[in-house]
Amino acid sequence: MTASEAFGGKAVVITGGAGAIGQATAREFLVRGARVLLVDRDASSVEYARTVLAELGDVSTAVADVSSEDDVAGYVQTAVERFGTIDVFFNNAGIEGRMQPIVNTAAEDFDKVFAVNVRGVFLGLKHVLQVMLRQGHGSIINTSSEAGLNGATSLADYVASKHAVTGLTKAAALEVARDGIRVNSIHPSPVNTPMMRRLESTWNADSPETVKAEFEAKSPMGRYSDPSEIAKVVVFLASDDASFVNGAQIRIDGGNGAA
Ligand SMILES: NC(=O)c1ccc[n+]([C@@H]2O[C@H](COP(=O)([O-])OP(=O)(O)OC[C@H]3O[C@@H](n4cnc5c(N)ncnc54)[C@H](O)[C@@H]3O)[C@@H](O)[C@H]2O)c1
Repeated sequence: MTASEAFGGKAVVITGGAGAIGQATAREFLVRGARVLLVDRDASSVEYARTVLAELGDVSTAVADVSSEDDVAGYVQTAVERFGTIDVFFNNAGIEGRMQPIVNTAAEDFDKVFAVNVRGVFLGLKHVLQVMLRQGHGSIINTSSEAGLNGATSLADYVASKHAVTGLTKAAALEVARDGIRVNSIHPSPVNTPMMRRLESTWNADSPETVKAEFEAKSPMGRYSDPSEIAKVVVFLASDDASFVNGAQIRIDGGNGAA
C-alpha cells in the first residue's frame, strides 16, 4: 500500500486544526488520502490553514469553541453530514494558560484552561463516541503533554488539565474497548511552535531564546520536536498498524521520560 492509499477516503476530524500541531497532522493525513475537517475557534486562522492545505486534498473547516457543547455537537454534525462517518478524531485543541505559581493563579485563569483542555476534550469524546459507537469503529487520539504525566512549575493549571486528559483517555478506552474503538493519548515535550514561543516569552520577556536553550539543554536529544514528528505518531495511532494499542500514553519527548 502506498502512503497515498493508507487513509484513502477515511474521515478525520482535527480540533485545534488551525494550530501548529493540528495543521501538521492534517498534512500527514491528507497526503495519505484522508478527508479532513479542521475545527478551530479562530475563523481566520482555520480558513488560512485550509487554503494552505487545499492543494493536498479534501480539507474543510468548522468554526467552533470546543468548550461549548452546542458548538461540539455542531462540528460533529458537520462532519457526519459531510463524510457520513468519523473514522479518526484528533482531540487536540488546547491552551497553555498563563505561567504563574499556584499562589498567584486566579481561579478564573484555572477555569479557562480547564474549559478548553478538559471540558473540550470530554465534550469531543462524548459526541464523537456517539457516532463511532453507531458505526462500530474509530480511533481517537487525545493531545495531552508530558505535563500530563509529570509536574512542572508555574503551570499547575495546564499540568492538572493535561493529567485530566490522561484520565479521560484511560476511562474512554476502557468504556469502548469492545466496540471497535481505540482511544490513546499523546504526550509531547516542547514542540517548535508558536505555543512554545509564547511560553518562552512569558518566562523571560527579555531573552526568550535563553529559555529555549535551557529547555533544549535539558532534553536528552538536545532539541525541541518538529510538529511533523508529532503528526506522524498520530497517524500511526490512527492506523490499523496500531490495532492493539489502546488506552496508552505515548510519550513523544526525545527521551525526557527516561531521565
Ligand atoms: N506546542 C507544544 O510544545 C506542545 C507540547 C505538548 C502538548 N501540546 C498540546 O498540543 C495541542 C496543540 O498545540 P499547538 O502547539 O498546535 O498550539 P497552537 O496554539 O498552535 O494551536 C492550538 C489551536 O487550538 C485552538 N483553540 C484554542 N482554544 C480553542 C477552543 N476553545 N475551541 C477551539 N479551538 C481552540 C487555537 O485557536 C489554536 O489554533 C494543545 O493541546 C497543546 O496543549 C503542545
